[in-house]
Amino acid sequence: MTDRARDAVVSAIRDHGPISFAEFMQHALNGPGGFYEDPRIGPSGAFVTSPHVHPVFGQLLGRAVRDLHTLLGRPEPFRLVEIGAGDGTLARQLLDELGGRGTRYTAVETSPGARKRLAEIRDLEVEEDLPAAADVVLAHELLDNLPVRVVRGDREVRIGLEGERLTEVVVPLDRSLGSLAAAARPRLADATFDEGPVALAGDNGDEADVVVPVGAFDVVDRISDMLSPGFALLIDYGDVGSTGGPIHGYRGHRIVDDVLADPGSSDVTVGVDFDAIARRAEMRGLRAFTPVTQRDALVALGFEHWVRTELERQRTLLDEGAGTQAVRTWSDRSRATLLVDPAALGRLRWMLLASPTLSPPAWVGIERRGV
Ligand SMILES: C[S@@+](CC[C@H](N)C(=O)[O-])C[C@H]1O[C@@H](n2cnc3c(N)ncnc32)[C@H](O)[C@@H]1O
Repeated sequence: MTDRARDAVVSAIRDHGPISFAEFMQHALNGPGGFYEDPRIGPSGAFVTSPHVHPVFGQLLGRAVRDLHTLLGRPEPFRLVEIGAGDGTLARQLLDELGGRGTRYTAVETSPGARKRLAEIRDLEVEEDLPAAADVVLAHELLDNLPVRVVRGDREVRIGLEGERLTEVVVPLDRSLGSLAAAARPRLADATFDEGPVALAGDNGDEADVVVPVGAFDVVDRISDMLSPGFALLIDYGDVGSTGGPIHGYRGHRIVDDVLADPGSSDVTVGVDFDAIARRAEMRGLRAFTPVTQRDALVALGFEHWVRTELERQRTLLDEGAGTQAVRTWSDRSRATLLVDPAALGRLRWMLLASPTLSPPAWVGIERRGV
């Protein structure tokens, strides 16, 4: 399985020379033998995401989606689209939570293995590509897996071959990528970029890599075409004004530093620069709200109330002599606190995009100022 992804990378390089990091990611993640051909998500896979940790995640996110449905004037059918739905754990939780709202839930997945699993879920439509329209779009841990290109100074970092080994090769930057890099990190760009020399070194003269999220930009463009009007809620790792860390891999619940060593065997991911995504969305006519941490979002949606209710339940079980059940309640509740732990899943960010005519719900951040 792993060799097929490597073979695809090698033959692409032999065919058209050093490939962009985005093309490398496509092969390593989404192509034949790629890491996501069959999703390795969940307790027995390479990593778990919030809905696997505890179903209260889906309950509270379901509350958020219900708010969006209400703000849209309760359309029926309610067209909810989840992009990158993985093994469908979140879809199951949300379908439970949203039952009775005339929800038409479409799960979009590029992975054949994931589509097979999603097809087992009742009341779920499964697609390989995005539908033309939606009321609400969700993307949970999608953007940090989408292809990126990498710019270093006035060059692009590509992937080439040194003997049999995959290696970084720097090539001159083409103008369209230069413009995208400037848009991704405006403060890094030379003001006269369009006419003058390409100068993407940082303000302090260093040559930090600029990650250009070409895949995420494409998805944001497509989402903007789907909403008329509508909301998109993007939940991911990342930061505002930077990616928050370098490109890295993930395998067997551990970080992999050298993602070129064995394409297809590990995830390849980089945090989302929510500022770059917001600017792209605004360019496409959407409003972008300042991302809030998952901790703040879940607390605003009632996480603490849920904890108190579970604590009450645990006490009642103990009073009734149901010790084993009481211990289970306690351990479930402790696991759920990972969802809001700033050192764990609580550091994920939630960013809402909205058509300009719509008001935001209470749990969202303030609208960004100054583009
Ligand atoms: C990190 S996984 C997250 C899965 C799920 N949302 C979760 O949180 O458990 C990313 C998923 O996005 C899918 N994916 C990647 N690119 C995609 C695209 N352009 N459209 C739809 N799905 C995509 C992958 O196949 C993979 O299942």
